[in-house]
Amino acid sequence: MSKDTLTITDNRTGKTFELPIEHETVKAIELRQIKAHDEDFGIMTYDPSYMNTAACKSTITFIDGDKGILNYRGIPIAQVAEKGSYLETAYLLLYGELPTALQLKDWTEAIHQNLDVPATFPRIIQAFEPSAHLMGVFQAAIAALSTYYPDSKKVNDPANRVKQIHRLIGQVATVGACCYRHQAGLPMVAPDPSLSYAGNFLHMMFGKTPDPALEKAMDILFILHADHEQNCSTSTMRLVSSADTDPYSSLSAAAAALYGPLHGGANEAVLKMLAHIGTVENIPAFIESVKKGEGRLMGFGHRVYKNYDPRARIVKDTAYEVFEVTGKNPLLDVALELEKIALHDEYFVKRKLYPNVDFYSGLIYQAMGFPDEFFTVLFAIGRTSGWLAQWNEMMDDKDQKIGRPRQIFLGHGERDYVAMGQRG
Ligand code: CMC
Repeated sequence: MSKDTLTITDNRTGKTFELPIEHETVKAIELRQIKAHDEDFGIMTYDPSYMNTAACKSTITFIDGDKGILNYRGIPIAQVAEKGSYLETAYLLLYGELPTALQLKDWTEAIHQNLDVPATFPRIIQAFEPSAHLMGVFQAAIAALSTYYPDSKKVNDPANRVKQIHRLIGQVATVGACCYRHQAGLPMVAPDPSLSYAGNFLHMMFGKTPDPALEKAMDILFILHADHEQNCSTSTMRLVSSADTDPYSSLSAAAAALYGPLHGGANEAVLKMLAHIGTVENIPAFIESVKKGEGRLMGFGHRVYKNYDPRARIVKDTAYEVFEVTGKNPLLDVALELEKIALHDEYFVKRKLYPNVDFYSGLIYQAMGFPDEFFTVLFAIGRTSGWLAQWNEMMDDKDQKIGRPRQIFLGHGERDYVAMGQRG
C-alpha cells in the first residue's frame, strides 16, 4: 500500500528515517534529525539560486512552466487581461476573489484618495541629476516615502497594512510619473481621480487626455505584470519584509532586484539589443554570437517557463493594437524575425528558450513615448500590487519567521590573528 512518506537510509550509520511528504514536498528541517553522530549538526539541503526549494505556501499565483499556464487566484491570465481592469486585478490578488460592484467602487475610491504624494516629496526627486537612471531614482524615491509614514512600521496590524497598501498602489504611479517629468525637465502634473488607474497615469506622464486604445494597452500591461509568484523581486519583498521592515523599504528593495537585466531590466535591454542589431539582415550574425556565448538573446528564456510565456502572447497582440494608434515601431520587424529564427534554431529549441514578457513590451512602451530607462519603472508600477499581496499573505502566515538561509562553510578552521609585521 502506498504511503505519503519518503524513506531515507543514511549509509554512514545504517539508520533509516521516514519523512512525511506533504504537497509533493518534504520539510528541509526534517533532515536535521539525520546525523552521523550525536554532536553532528544534522543534514541540510544545498540549493543555490533556489532551483528546487519552496520557501512559502501561497494561494495567489499559479504557474505551470511546462504547459505555459499562468493563473491569478485560479483565473487564467488571458481572461483577466481581456475582461478585467488593473484595479480589479489588484483586488483579486490581495483578497482572493474578484470584487463585487460595491467592493470595486470602495476599493477604487480608497486608491484614488491616495494618488497624491506628500507636498515636499517632489523635492527628493528633484535632488537627482537629470541624467540619473530613472529606475535608480524610482527605487530611492519609494524608499524615501517610508520616512513620511512612520505608522507603516506597524506591520503586524492587518488594518494598518491595508492602509499602506492603498497608499502604495495609489502613489507608486505618481512617483513614477514624477521621476519621468523631472528627468524630462517638465513640471509635475497633478493626478486626476476621475480617470482610470492607467488613464490617470498616462495623464500624469504626458499631461494630456490619453487615447482610449493606449489607456487600454497600459491597463493590460499593468495586469500582465501584476504578479508572478516567487521570482527574484517578490522573494526579495518577502525576505526583507520578514524582518518586520516597513513595506516602502521592502518594496524599494524588490524594485532593486527587478532593476537587474536578467529580471525586469530585460525590457530595456531588449530594446538596446534590437537597436544594436538594427536590421533583419544582421540577425543571423547576432544569433551566432549568442550561440558562441558572447551575449544573451534578451527577452528569451525563463527559469520557470519551458514553453511560450502566456504573457508574451498577449503583449504581442497588444503591440499591434498600439501600433494602430502610434504607427509601427520600426524595430518590430527585427523582433519578429529574431523570434522566428530563434524558435527554429536548435540551440534555443534544445534549451526550451521562448520569448518572455519582456520581449515585446519595450516595443510598445517605446511607441507610446516612454524613454527606454523608464520601462522597468512601468514593470514595477504594475508589480506593486503583487508584491503587496505576497507581503500581506506572508505577514499572516504562521509558518513564516525572519528569513535566514544557511551556508556550507568551506573556509579556514580557527586560527590565530597575525600581527602586521609578521605577515608574509
Ligand atoms: N539567450 C541565450 N542563451 C540562454 C538564454 C538567453 N536569453 N537564457 C538561457 N540561455 C542558456 C544558458 O546559456 C544555458 O545554456 P547552457 O546549458 O549551454 O549553459 C541554458 O540556456 C540555461 O540557462 P540558465 O542561465 O541556467 O537559466 P536560468 O533559469 O538560470 O535563467 C533567465 C533564466 C531568465 C535569467 C535567462 O533565460 C536569461 O538570462 N534570459 C535573458 C534575460 C531575460 O529576458 N530576463 C527576463 C525574464 S522574464 C521577466 C521576469 O519575470 O523577470
